[in-house]
Order: sequence, then C-alpha cells, then structure tokens
Amino acid sequence: MRRPLVDLKKQYQGLKEEILAEIGQALDGMQLFLGKNVQTFEADFANYCGTEFAIGVGSGTDALHLALRACGIGPGDEVITVSNTFFATVEAIAIVGARPVFVDIDPDTYNIDPSQIEGAINSRTKAIIPVHLYGHPADMDPILELAKSHKIKVIEDACQSHGAEYKGRRTGSLGDAGCFSFYFTKNLGAYGEAGIITISDPEIAKQCRLLRDHGQDPKYYHSLFGFNARLDELQAAVLKVKLPHLDEWTENRRSIAQAFDAGLPASIVKPQEMPWGKHVYHLYVVRTPYRDQLRAWLETKGIGAGMHYPIPIHLQKAWQDAGGGDCSLPITEKITEEILSLPMYPELSSEEVKYICDCVQEFAEAELHAAVGD
Ligand SMILES: Cc1ncc(COP(=O)(O)O)c(C=O)c1O
Repeated sequence: MRRPLVDLKKQYQGLKEEILAEIGQALDGMQLFLGKNVQTFEADFANYCGTEFAIGVGSGTDALHLALRACGIGPGDEVITVSNTFFATVEAIAIVGARPVFVDIDPDTYNIDPSQIEGAINSRTKAIIPVHLYGHPADMDPILELAKSHKIKVIEDACQSHGAEYKGRRTGSLGDAGCFSFYFTKNLGAYGEAGIITISDPEIAKQCRLLRDHGQDPKYYHSLFGFNARLDELQAAVLKVKLPHLDEWTENRRSIAQAFDAGLPASIVKPQEMPWGKHVYHLYVVRTPYRDQLRAWLETKGIGAGMHYPIPIHLQKAWQDAGGGDCSLPITEKITEEILSLPMYPELSSEEVKYICDCVQEFAEAELHAAVGD
C-alpha cells in the first residue's frame, strides 16, 4: 500500500453529504456572485482569526498581491521577506512593482530571522512579509516592534498556518494584513482555488474589497482599476462546511507530529515548536545530510516524501533573469539541501506513522553501518 505525502480522500468521504448539499443549495439559488456563502465564510473566518474583517479572494497569491496594493506598496518600494518560501510570496512583491529584499532564516524554525531585519531596512523599505512556514509562526514581536519604529507595514504570509498561534493569538491577526491560501492541500483546503485576507483596519479592508472586484462599489461604479480576484461562491460553500473541523484536524496533526518526534531516529533533525508558538504542522519537515538517499529509500517503501522547497527563490531562474542578483543566505542554502517533508495529513493512522518511522529507522541503521564500514 502506498503512503502518499497527502491523502484527501478520507476527509472528503466524511463530509461528502454535507458539502454536496451546500453546493446543491448554492446552485439552486444561483446567487454565485459574492453571495451568502462568501459572506458567511468571511464572517466565520474573521471570527476564527480574531480580526474585524476577512475578504475572500481567488487564491493565496491574490491575497498577498491585493494586501500589498491596499497597503500602498508599489514601484520604488522595497519589501523584506525570505527566500525559503513558496514562489508566490515573492511573486506578489514583484507583481506590484516593488523590490523583494531577502534576509536569512532562523535555523530552528526555518522562518525569518528577526535579528537580521534591521540591517536590511532603508528609506525605501515599506513592508515586511514574514512567512509562517510549514505551520509554525514567525517570531512576531521583534518584527512588529521594528515595523512600528520604522513606520512600515507587516503583511503575514499565513498561507500554511491556518490556526497557528503566536503567544496565544492566531496568525493572520498579528500584522496589518494576513494572507491565507485555501489551495486544496492546505490545512483548510477548498476544492479549487481560493484565498482570504484578514484585516482589522477598515480602510485597508475597503481597499481590498474594491481591488478584488474591478474597483466597483456599487456594481458598475468603478472608483479604481482593480482585478477579478473574488472568492468563488461554491468554494466558499465548501470552506464553510470545513472550518468547524479545522481545530480537530489541527489536533490530529499535532498528535501525528508527536508520534513522529518519538518514533524517528535521533540522527534525524525534527521540527521544533518554540515556547511562544503553536505549530499546526501543515508540513512535517525533517533534516538530514542524506536527504536524497532517504527520499529514494522511502520511495522504494511506497512512502511519498516531498521537498519544500528544493530551490530557494534567490537561486531561481526568474530571480536571476529579473536581475535580482546574488544574495548571501547561508542558512537558507544549507537547509534547502537537507529538508524532507514526510507524509502529513489529519487522517494518517498510527500504524502508518509507525511504518514510516520504522522505514526511516532502517535507513538510519544502514547509513550507520555504511559509515563504520561493516
Ligand atoms: C507560503 C505560501 N505563500 C503563498 C502561497 C500561494 O497560495 P495560492 O497557491 O493559493 O495562490 C502558498 C501556497 O501554495 C504558500 O504555501
């Protein structure tokens, strides 16, 4: 039997009737333009995150793009972020015409290293985008302090951190805006493309609402040039059904992570949870200098493992072609060669976790024997 990196079928089977009924109702009503489901889900998700507003958009990329625009970021501005992230974080900065500036990451959390931010700030710096990568929050207090003292915005990339907490507050509620993806494999996933922006400032919220819908309010009265970046009503129907289950799924992920922590060999570096953070394990990422060998070994055992991400942004062709230039990010480059994501989803059974741990253990013993030459 194959153990994939993510398996969404079981979760769907459990919710199938409810989801199909909600989709059916939406289709019966034919109110498919920012209708009842979008409005309900926006209110539910704002309440979940602890923000005043949530504005449904087409994807996590839209969320980042529109949040940057709504915060007034554009050509000539610089935005500080990390290179160890999904491409869209940086793409959104480029789309608005601003310049991404990378700082290195903390080797324990794999998130932005706050101690390196101040050195990257200059008069052009207009925003910081911390990414709560893999589901662990970035260390936000020093970031928020720096942003306050330099009068720059903080836009959280919370695309992997639904429900994660920093000192008891949910990610997405800590900066000027929070950007979430509901890509189907996320901890809260739609069955197509979807995203949301969480905000408490009414002015930024108003801008985001206009930008996602051609700058119109009311219909056909356009106060600015915007985009078609609305949250789809059918995806909102799916998300509305799923949201009440998110905390239970998170607890399952956390139990699975604990079982991995206990069952994997000592030679494998496991993810850490900082005392100030609640990890929601969107991904369970381990490290080993034998990453490629371990991945190939797991493949022979029917276990799907992934790399998030195999090439940091500053080494991508797009970055070089855009004249991004060389960056000194030694920790980012080192961990990129060692990280491996093991299967992680709420329905992964304890037998499957044990099987995966046993296979990694077998690999570690074989490596040890090879190293001592017996
Ligand atoms: C860290 C991060 N940022 C941004 C995105 C973009 O989200 P989407 O794929 O919904 O556009 C993703 C999703 O893959 C992500 O993981």
